[in-house]
Amino acid sequence: MTGTVAVITGAGWWDNHPPGLGFAIAKQLAEDGHKVIVQDRELAPAERSANSLRELGFEASAQAMDVADAGHCTRQIEALLAAHGRIDILVNAAALTLARWGLRRFHEITPDECDQEIAVTLKGALNATRAVLPHMLERGSGNIIMISSIMAFEPSARMTIYGICKAALVNFTASLAAEVGPRGIRVNCVCPGSMKTRVTASMPKPLMEAFVESTALGRMADAAEVANVVRFLVSDAAAYVTGQSIRVDGGKAGIF
Ligand SMILES: NC(=O)c1ccc[n+]([C@@H]2O[C@H](COP(=O)([O-])OP(=O)(O)OC[C@H]3O[C@@H](n4cnc5c(N)ncnc54)[C@H](O)[C@@H]3O)[C@@H](O)[C@H]2O)c1
Repeated sequence: MTGTVAVITGAGWWDNHPPGLGFAIAKQLAEDGHKVIVQDRELAPAERSANSLRELGFEASAQAMDVADAGHCTRQIEALLAAHGRIDILVNAAALTLARWGLRRFHEITPDECDQEIAVTLKGALNATRAVLPHMLERGSGNIIMISSIMAFEPSARMTIYGICKAALVNFTASLAAEVGPRGIRVNCVCPGSMKTRVTASMPKPLMEAFVESTALGRMADAAEVANVVRFLVSDAAAYVTGQSIRVDGGKAGIF
C-alpha cells in the first residue's frame, strides 16, 4: 500500500446493472495501491462496489455522499479526513446521465429537471472539489479529476443540459488548475466517447450503431480503457500534466 487515499464519486454498483466507469476507476486506483473510498448518493451501491474490491484483496470502503448537497459534501469529506487522515485523489464521476432522463430535447425539459441535472452533473463536481480543496491546499499536494464527455465539444440535440454541464467542467478544469497549480495540486479532465455501461445499454440500437460507426476504431470502449487514462493522470508519470481535458473516444472516422 502507498498510504494514499482516493475518493471516487458516483462509483456505486447498482443492482441489475453492470458496474460503471466510477467502479472501473476505483478498481485501477486500488490496484495501484491507493486506499479507495467508493461513494454514491446511496450507501448500498457504494457498499456493493467496496465489498467487491475487498473480495479482490484491496483496501476499500464505502460512503454515501450526495454531490448535489454542498453541506453534505463538506460533512462527508470531513468524516473521511477524520477516519483516514488524508485525501490524495478526488475523481468526480457522479452525473445524471442518460440512464436518468433518456434522450430529451431542450424544449421538453422542465426548469426543475434542468436544475436537477445542473445540480448533480456540474455543481456536484464543484461541491465535492470545494470540500476536498482546503485539505489539499494545506498539504500542498493532490490530484483532482473531472469526468466530462465528448458532449462537452459536440452538439447533441437531445442531451443539451448534460452537454452544457460537461462543457463547463472542461473550463473548470483549466481555471482551477491555474489557481491551484502553484500550490502543488493538479487538475485534469477525461472526456469519454461511448463506453459499454448501463447508460449506453439504454440507448436505441440504431443510434448506438451510428455512434460506433463515427469512431475511427469502430467500437465502443470498455470502462477500463477510459479508467486507464485517469490512472495515468493521477500518477507521477503525469507529474507535468495539468489543466488538460483528454478525449478518450476511439477517434473520429473520416467522412470519405
Ligand atoms: N457511459 C458512457 O458512455 C459515458 C460517456 C461519456 C461520459 N460518461 C460519464 O462517465 C461518468 C460515469 O458514467 P457511467 O456510464 O458509469 O454512468 P452511471 O449513471 O452508471 O454513473 C453515474 C453515477 O452517479 C451517481 N449519482 C447520481 N446522482 C448522484 C448524486 N446526487 N450524488 C452522488 N452520486 C450520484 C449515480 O447513482 C451513478 O452511480 C459520468 O460522469 C458520465 O457522465 C459516460
